[in-house]
Amino acid sequence: MTPQFRWPSLSYALRDAIESDIGRVTKTVSLPWTRSAPYAAVLRTRTHRPVVLKAAPECHKAAEYVRREAIVSPRVAHVAPAFVGAYNAGGWVATLAAFHDARFADLTPGSADLPRVARVLGAVSRPYAGPSLPRLCDRWPDAALSAEDRSSLGGFTLLHTNLHRTNLLVYKETWGPRVHIVGWGRAVLGPRWAELAMFYRELRRADHTAHAAHAWLAQFPTWRKALPGRLTVLARAMQRDASPRDRAVWAELIS
Ligand SMILES: Nc1ncnc2c1ncn2[C@@H]1O[C@H](COP(=O)(O)OP(=O)(O)OP(=O)(O)O)[C@@H](O)[C@H]1O
Ligand SMILES: [Mg+2]
Repeated sequence: MTPQFRWPSLSYALRDAIESDIGRVTKTVSLPWTRSAPYAAVLRTRTHRPVVLKAAPECHKAAEYVRREAIVSPRVAHVAPAFVGAYNAGGWVATLAAFHDARFADLTPGSADLPRVARVLGAVSRPYAGPSLPRLCDRWPDAALSAEDRSSLGGFTLLHTNLHRTNLLVYKETWGPRVHIVGWGRAVLGPRWAELAMFYRELRRADHTAHAAHAWLAQFPTWRKALPGRLTVLARAMQRDASPRDRAVWAELIS
């Protein structure tokens, strides 16, 4: 997405609030591969480590994603860059997190990143306790799901739901490469297996065969225990508004 704003065009009140936390901003670099936020950039100052600012005007359609990220980010410190702060100032909402000098995960078959991604996927899904979040089933209009379908998609696990490779950052820790997850704006509550079902599409997009994607996911007990009927409900729902290619991928989970 082409950046819609530059640092000087953000409201003065927002910039002032941020600079009072991290010092005067001396350099900003837009982040490529930003899919939702109208403003996402690395900010540098002389006194603070580099941070990533994601911001949206309160009335922008992406503001909801920034607000949700502000709720979720402090609760996922075990799998995400350190959260620095959330702002609501001058008609803007924003989040700040530690910047990782990182690359996107390589999800193609045989990649050395796959076991690293497996580790973070195993750690990500935890029961959630915090301010209310939308439920997975809220994504679809009332008419799209029966009451039974909605209960199939019920649960209280925090789900990222958008584990595209640009949201999986591989950075260097002292003991070796590690994966952290960013882009929490579409997080919802739902059943634990649903995160893995969503990741099935990412594996297929990365050229795993259907058989190989199933085999890879089978390392997770949650996946092995997922009921085919419930997977079918999710896959059918995901087919709505999907591209023809994605529709075919979701069809593979329908039994
Ligand atoms: N803490 C971070 N360190 C380094 N790069 C980051 C960090 N947070 C986000 N990025 C990168 O910045 C870009 C935008 O970030 P992010 O994915 O959080 O926003 P988005 O793409 O607008 O949201 P979504 O993925 O939910 O659609 C992506 O390329 C992402 O990899
Ligand atoms: Mg993203």
